[in-house]
Amino acid sequence: MPLPPGPRGPVAVVSARFAHRPLDRLVQWHRRYGDVFTVRLLGFGPGVYVADPDAVRQLFTGDQSDLLAGEANSVLIPVLGEHSVLVLDGPRHLRQRKLLLPPFQGPRVAGFREIIRDAAEREVDRWRPGDELVLRERMRAVGFEVICRAVFGVREPARVEALRVALSAVLDTSALLLADERLRADHGRFSPGGRFARRLAVADRLVHAEIAERRRAGDLDARDDVLSLLLRARDEDGQALSDAELRDELVTLLAAGHETTATALAFAFEFLLRDPAALARARAAAADGDDAHLEAVGRETLRLRPVLDATERTLTRPREVAGFELPAGVRVYPAIALIHRRPDLHDDPLAFRPERFAAGETPPYSWLPFGGGIRRCIGAPLAQAEIVEVLRVALSRVELLPRTARPDPVVLRGITIAPRDGVRVRVVRRLSRPRAAAPGGSSRSSSSAAPR
Ligand code: HEM
Repeated sequence: MPLPPGPRGPVAVVSARFAHRPLDRLVQWHRRYGDVFTVRLLGFGPGVYVADPDAVRQLFTGDQSDLLAGEANSVLIPVLGEHSVLVLDGPRHLRQRKLLLPPFQGPRVAGFREIIRDAAEREVDRWRPGDELVLRERMRAVGFEVICRAVFGVREPARVEALRVALSAVLDTSALLLADERLRADHGRFSPGGRFARRLAVADRLVHAEIAERRRAGDLDARDDVLSLLLRARDEDGQALSDAELRDELVTLLAAGHETTATALAFAFEFLLRDPAALARARAAAADGDDAHLEAVGRETLRLRPVLDATERTLTRPREVAGFELPAGVRVYPAIALIHRRPDLHDDPLAFRPERFAAGETPPYSWLPFGGGIRRCIGAPLAQAEIVEVLRVALSRVELLPRTARPDPVVLRGITIAPRDGVRVRVVRRLSRPRAAAPGGSSRSSSSAAPR
């Protein structure tokens, strides 16, 4: 079965061009080949991008029995573990997912907001006029603390720091090491595999210590961090999660959650700091407690810069996708980034206009940064809350300037779309009235910012 047409040329060249400017390349290929095209990328085999909204809806919500999503992530098993919701498929995936979803839904998010605000305030209050910052790094630190506190339920700063150091060392493991079993073999403490094994052992010891301590805690029923809720959760057969499962899901939530949200925030600042009208509007929203507008800034950022350009499904049987008969074994990529730029779904699609989200709901299947169906991102409410809270705190406390004349180029980093240099800024001044309005409140007076 011939695959849909797509860019030709050596795989290494196509991959290098894609990694250099992923969004530009996708747009170019979409224009040239239409809504369905095949790209061969190094280490991934042929993948069929699908930018047709109806076809994407069918992939997300139609028959799932011939689609795998976890299998494509199996390279992450050495870090995430074999019980991770990200690497599982079928009934085992659904069981883990059903247990993991409730702690991220409804009223729980309000509790997260307080933690996020506190972490953001402590970070931003360290920034001094003249400081040069790489925003993605600073946002990563905030995101890490948020997950340690909201998900792991760790409160003491020293323990948050110990987890940060140990888990960052594991999560920063190179893709090459993960992909190559021989390289990962432990040939002593100076070999790459040996170093990885030791780092993993240190991180696992800390995570298991948290789980053990929480199991013993007398106040488990009163606690609402995700780990405590997971310890109380039971599946349909009345079974609780084992320690090994808890370890894998905690590490998964951290891995899936902290860097993605940090990248989204860095992009949001990049857009705002280069658009005076949008920045003024966002500052007023921060001062007025207009969360809806700050949320719209986050949504618009994720429309133009979805951190993942596509999700991934592998066909286990031949399947018709957008008019093409695709064979079993092919990877299909619902092309989030391209759906987000379709002029039939978004007016003036290349313009950064958060207001477009204020007008009401966008057409279904036009905004998909969190994927969809039974694999939709579990942490979406936490990510969206984090974007709103961090923007409110930073916009109401400091004035920042980009350090480069041109926007940071958008590159591929691992499997994510990221600003190449992490969005470098300088702190110009602190604003005289540090207190932003309470969420949902309204205090125009606090918007009068003056130099300290
Ligand atoms: C802006 C930030 C984020 C973005 C753009 C994002 C995006 C995504 C996407 C595209 C998927 C795959 C969906 C699919 O295949 O259809 C996903 C899955 C997932 N995300 Fe996120 N995510 C973000 C933040 C988070 C956070 C904060 C957490 C948790 C704390 C999280 C946890 C997960 C998990 C556990 C999955 C796997 C769900 C499953 O396989 O059932 N993510 N995310």
